[in-house]
Amino acid sequence: MTSLTIEIEKAKHSKISSVDFNNLDFGRVFTDHMLECDYKDGKWQNPKIVPYQPITLDPSAKIFHYGQSIFEGMKAYKDANDDIFLFRPIDNFKRLNISAKRLAMPELPEAFFMDGLKELLKLEKDWIPKSDGSALYIRPFMFASGSGFHASPADAYKFVIAFAPSGAYFSGKVKVLIEEKYSRSANGGVGFAKAGGNYAGQFYPTQLAKDKGYQQVIWTDDNSHEYIEEAGAMNIFVRINDTLMTVPTSDRILDGITRKSIISIAEDLGIDVDVRKIKVSELIEASENGSLKEIFGAGTAAVVSPISGFGYKGKDYQLPEIENTFGELLKKHITDIQTNKSEDKFGWRVKV
Ligand code: PLP
Ligand code: COI
Repeated sequence: MTSLTIEIEKAKHSKISSVDFNNLDFGRVFTDHMLECDYKDGKWQNPKIVPYQPITLDPSAKIFHYGQSIFEGMKAYKDANDDIFLFRPIDNFKRLNISAKRLAMPELPEAFFMDGLKELLKLEKDWIPKSDGSALYIRPFMFASGSGFHASPADAYKFVIAFAPSGAYFSGKVKVLIEEKYSRSANGGVGFAKAGGNYAGQFYPTQLAKDKGYQQVIWTDDNSHEYIEEAGAMNIFVRINDTLMTVPTSDRILDGITRKSIISIAEDLGIDVDVRKIKVSELIEASENGSLKEIFGAGTAAVVSPISGFGYKGKDYQLPEIENTFGELLKKHITDIQTNKSEDKFGWRVKV
């Protein structure tokens, strides 16, 4: 990997003194600078760090009409010595390019992602929160800036990295509705990609679930709606007795970095992990016979998010209140690695 020359234009004033770092919401305040670069004339070029600012586009830019838009979600952490760490960043870089390929967008060279990110982090290091449960949320994204109403891939794209110092994504346990009608993805579709449109398609069914008193939807397979797939914008884990289960990834499911890290940590802790398809009817049966102990979602923004209960076909099923949950244990292990509080035997942490 060759290192990249990145032009830097500094903001005249910093907004940092106006931010209450003890009361951070998720993704609502943004740092002083952003990284941007352009794809034109067949190549990625002109990486620069500029003051955080609006992006101006032609009204015919293809992002507005045909939705060529992908993103990533990652976090930077600061330890007690103010050293800065990323968690498995290469996996985010690779997944961005998997998404790009599926959306017929140009793949980004590694240096634009990694050097750009590290350079921006060094400039914004004072924005990385240190309090428990908070981190600097990193949002790399790429979209079609090229113009024209022709329904075909654009000839120009923009890649941007923006930062948001953030607290917890969910404030407590989440009550979910198992989806019987709508789908977030389908065989042969773009469910495995982090494409903006996947999220747009989730908003309406999620709103319907919210109207009924649930906070999130458990997505089921598009064909039969008999198998669980994801929990909102998180991968899903289920504990039946002392076995931790999650569903295999597929072209309908995002290959989550938190998910695969949790599988490795759980196996390392000696937990029995079973990666297999899970039927909704199994959850109901396990809930009724008392063997269903926990359900939680896992993802970068939400980390590990416990589910309090689920609704299905008009009936609510409550999860038991238990001590020493797998969810809490695994959350502690993953965040201790991320924040340099424990040994990183897997080699996931990257010091910036
Ligand atoms: N599934 C979906 C649909 C997501 O949007 C996310 C969030 O990134 C995840 C799963 C979790 O992936 P990761 O752990 O890589 O953040
Ligand atoms: C993440 O967990 O990083 C995501 O991208 C999910 C997003 C909907 C906040």
